[in-house]
Amino acid sequence: MENQQLLNIIDQLTLKEKIAQLIQLSGVAFDAKDSEITGPLEEMNMDLDTLHHTGSVLGISGASEVIKLQKEYLKHNRHGIPLLFMADVIHGYKTIFPIPLGIGATWDLNLAEKSAEVAALETAVSGVHVTFAPMVDLVRDPRWGRVMESTGEDPFLNSEFARAFVRGFQGKDLTNDVGRVAACVKHFAAYGAPEGGRDYNTVNMSERQMREHYLPAYKAGLDEGAELIMTSFNTVDGIPASANKHLMKDILREEWGFQGVLISDWGAVKELIPHGVAEDEKEAAYKAMRAGVDIEMMSPCYVHHLEELVQEGSIEEAEIDQAVLRVLQLKDKLGLFENPYRGADELREKEVVLSAEHRKAAREVAAKSFVLLKNQNQTLPLQRDKKLALIGPFAKSKDILGSWSWLGAQDQAVSIFDGFVAKTDVANLVVAQGCEVETSTAEMLAEAIETAKNADIIVLALGEAAWMSGESNSRASIQLPAVQLELVKQIKALNKPIVTILFNGRPLDLHGVFEESDAILDVWFPGTEGGNAICDVLFGDVNPSGKLTMSFPYSVGQIPVYYNHFNTGRPQSGPYGTRYLDIPIEPLLPFGFGLSYTTFTYSEMQVTSTVLTKDNPIQIQVDVTNSGELAGEEIVQFYIRDIAGEIVRPVKELKAFEKVSLQPGERKTITFTLTEEQLRYYHSDLQWQSDPGTFELFVGPNSRDVQSIKIILK
Ligand code: BGC
Repeated sequence: MENQQLLNIIDQLTLKEKIAQLIQLSGVAFDAKDSEITGPLEEMNMDLDTLHHTGSVLGISGASEVIKLQKEYLKHNRHGIPLLFMADVIHGYKTIFPIPLGIGATWDLNLAEKSAEVAALETAVSGVHVTFAPMVDLVRDPRWGRVMESTGEDPFLNSEFARAFVRGFQGKDLTNDVGRVAACVKHFAAYGAPEGGRDYNTVNMSERQMREHYLPAYKAGLDEGAELIMTSFNTVDGIPASANKHLMKDILREEWGFQGVLISDWGAVKELIPHGVAEDEKEAAYKAMRAGVDIEMMSPCYVHHLEELVQEGSIEEAEIDQAVLRVLQLKDKLGLFENPYRGADELREKEVVLSAEHRKAAREVAAKSFVLLKNQNQTLPLQRDKKLALIGPFAKSKDILGSWSWLGAQDQAVSIFDGFVAKTDVANLVVAQGCEVETSTAEMLAEAIETAKNADIIVLALGEAAWMSGESNSRASIQLPAVQLELVKQIKALNKPIVTILFNGRPLDLHGVFEESDAILDVWFPGTEGGNAICDVLFGDVNPSGKLTMSFPYSVGQIPVYYNHFNTGRPQSGPYGTRYLDIPIEPLLPFGFGLSYTTFTYSEMQVTSTVLTKDNPIQIQVDVTNSGELAGEEIVQFYIRDIAGEIVRPVKELKAFEKVSLQPGERKTITFTLTEEQLRYYHSDLQWQSDPGTFELFVGPNSRDVQSIKIILK
């Protein structure tokens, strides 16, 4: 539609109807019948007429339900403006993929895109138009439960994933490709840096720091075409994001030129009151509108007060028109004026949701998301003829979908035990639970020990329950629960090889399990096909290739610990050097780390020139050889360090990576190109530029074990 046509529609709306377009309610609100007003509507003190003009709804899905609701809605809506359906489809709709922290560990942008494409198709045929994803918050604190939703601690990698997810959700032509959904980048901004790792808590950082590390991934998602962005719950420099004009107007709208829809997070507008920047709902509505929030999700400040604010002249009606226009533009872009039901299709829904093809894709992504953290004496892969004991709370558990899989059904999930059973050539398996995730009985423990006694190898399936990570689920201790550590101790006493499978929504403190295990495979929350994917890797049908995108701390006392940190003036160890008296300063496992069943050998790195100029990029080359006996994939990483900047520069910064597949004995040359532009950063005056001088370039299999070469930027 032409903009003018949309403006004509807006002209016909009363102010009240315009404001209604800026409200988002959850599905239950629409259960209200003509005569009764209950639930959210009552709480929000909203009448049915407003409901019939509400712009969008969240959390409803299913083709028949969506079609029914849209029909009903259009019967009442005086202008025939269709209702917009949004939902959280974070890592799968019903076919659940690994949590994003796991998808990140694939370092595979095509797989990430594929996962989002599958999720989009299932979502779209089920009637939903917008997903609240990707979450692209940079994270450095594993106590924060929402690290599971992110792709880790690196701004470059997060930006690449942000783009890949947006491509997967939206495709190339959102209007005509009804199997795609609009993407909403979130949570703007810096939600991943709450003090103390406590969800919703204050974020305190300089704008320079925010621009350098935290903002790039949001920007990348928007540059890739994401139609929406969501505000975050936290404060940014003392002002909650949902009232933060500098963030939303100066940076997002003016500097970045974002034209799409800005939606608040759930209830975040009203939360301006407890935050302490609004005395009441009216002030909250005023501040959010002035900051540029188009849609208020699940709180009533706009519906109660915008009209009054316009009437008294504090808000111009033109501002409201602008917000409504953006909402209508999105509806138009999704083709809803022509077809308000869009992709909703009960038949297609039956065909594609949880289809064999989608499950296959989920299995592949899951297997590639696993990170082999340890593999002493080549304990893995397992020999199929060995006597195996599968022990632990996750042996048969289907709580493997992660906390953001609201439509993923556990009964559709494949447990590790199911995965073993499906490998029909694995004959000798005994199973015992040993303990629950957090509790146990003496009998359970005794049974596990008895069961494990006769095995050749013990596979321990341990971890956090899904609810232990995710929104509002921060943990101060990030070790395995005590009962599981006790189980490890008792099993260790049997003196048999131990393979540990870890389920977790965050990097863990691995005391009590790392030393005790011979091999450890981190499987995050692997999703619907988890058990199959785990067995693919355990038995060597798939060679693990994942690498960490978030450091595993030695212990919680180090947090935040991340690879791209600054040096101190006293980097040396020993007295008066930077140190802890009781623990190392290095993480247990660094960013980029992950093992394979094969080995890769790196040649000495070469550069085409040791002098780099604006016009003459240089190339960095390294030969990587598969020096083991199995085919495998290696993620070759390229980092830089600016030795002396105007601002202290991180000790390493990832600039590029390549995932390479190698047969045994095969060698490939990997080439990275480095340009002057990649060496730029935000200076104290917020200018984006580079500093001439010495740079160190690093190549390696992770951020720690690297070789280096120095070059000069002229
Ligand atoms: C979360 C968002 C989510 C929204 C809608 C909020 O509590 O922070 O990530 O998209 O709810 O469900």
